Order: sequence, then C-alpha cells, then structure tokens
Amino acid sequence: MAEILPSILAADFTRLGEEIAAVEKGGVKMLHIDVMDGHFVPNLTLGPPVVQAIRKRTALALDVHLMITDPDKYAPIFIEAGADCVSVHQEVCHHLDCTLRAIQAEGAQAGVVINPATPVANLRHVLEIVDYVLVMSVNPGFGGQKFIPYTLGKLRELDRLRQEIGKPFLIEIDGGITLENVTEAVRAGADWLVAGTSIFHAPDVVARTTEMRQIADQAKSVHV
Ligand code: DX5
Ligand code: ZN
Repeated sequence: MAEILPSILAADFTRLGEEIAAVEKGGVKMLHIDVMDGHFVPNLTLGPPVVQAIRKRTALALDVHLMITDPDKYAPIFIEAGADCVSVHQEVCHHLDCTLRAIQAEGAQAGVVINPATPVANLRHVLEIVDYVLVMSVNPGFGGQKFIPYTLGKLRELDRLRQEIGKPFLIEIDGGITLENVTEAVRAGADWLVAGTSIFHAPDVVARTTEMRQIADQAKSVHV
C-alpha cells in the first residue's frame, strides 16, 4: 500500500508538535525530515537535536533525507537521535556500498537518493542491498518547487528492475507532490510519496492528509 510522508520542512516550526499531531490524525505512518548542510544544497535546515525532539513527540517512523556532503560522518548521529530510515545521495558517496551497509549495521533502513539528472543505471549494483530508493522529482534544496515530469520514467524503470532482479526495495518520490500527481506517481511505482507544501500549507492539514492518502490507496488498487 502506498504511503504519504509529510515533509516537516513545510510545517510551521513554531508549532511543530501540533503540526505532527495533525498528520498523525490524518493517518500517516511516517514523517520525512530534510537535513541540508548549505554545501550539497544551497540551504540549511535542521540537525540531530530536532530529530531527537521529534522522536520524543511521536511514534511515527522517521525518514531522514540527508542532503549533505558527509553522510558517513552524520548518519550514525541521526540514527542515534531516532531516525528509522536514512537516505544518502548517490552523488556524494565515494563508497556507496559501505555507506549503505553502515546505516543498516546501525539498525536503520538504508535508502539511496538520486537527483533528477542522475540516471537509475548508477544504482544498478546497490539495488541488491538497499531498503529503498528515493527519486528526487525536484532539484533538492527547497520545498514548494514544481514537479519534474520526466522523473516518472525513473520510477517505472526502478519498478521494472525490482521485478527483474527479484529484490523487494521500496521506491520513494520527493518534490512537488500534489493532489494532482499522486495517482500517476503511484501507478509509475512509488510506494512512499513525500509531500510538504501540499500538506502543511493546506487550509485543513488533517483533511488534506486524509485526502492524499485515499487517492494513493485508490491508485494502487487500480495498479495491482
Ligand atoms: C526538497 C526536499 C523535499 C521537500 C518537499 O529538497 O527534499 O522533501 O520538503 O517539499 P514539497 O512537497 O513542498 O515539494
Ligand atoms: Zn526530502
């Protein structure tokens, strides 16, 4: 079943506890947390103390997306802070196989992320070991950007590959997800759909979360 992962980057940080309570009420199982270092992407967001605070506040699974140049150094710190899933960008990992295995050895699920311009082919061999692949559908760095349609082709390619090689990794998509494109993303193969602006900037966060979840469920039932 496809899951909607609210991205707290678009939440009101002064009311973060209430924002999380609203998406919990909307029925989500996971939260997406964007970590940016001002080097890999031109923006700075949050660090381990915020993940630790969120961990104390909710039982939802925490999916931490590291948009940083040194994931080997920081992934264990985020896992210690409470991350359940940690994803790293293929573009910055010199020893991707080691990085992913280290995350798994620390007890978290390991994900690998590719930017819109990065080919799926770069991941062919690590598909054997990853827990999930995150396809960026915007260039990382900021919330509220427009969805890049050609990234749907990468979801289809990954969906085909996992059947071909018989590995059960999940497929996540992140950036510009709205009520309008949830269905095509799920039908292209997405299991986890990250949504920031379209959830937290909605007039009613609980209602919007519920609506997106329902659309994702319906899309999957047609696909299967
Ligand atoms: C972008 C982040 C996204 C972002 C998504 O660099 O990785 O997770 O928060 O936000 P929206 O849904 O607003 O595009
Ligand atoms: Zn993200």
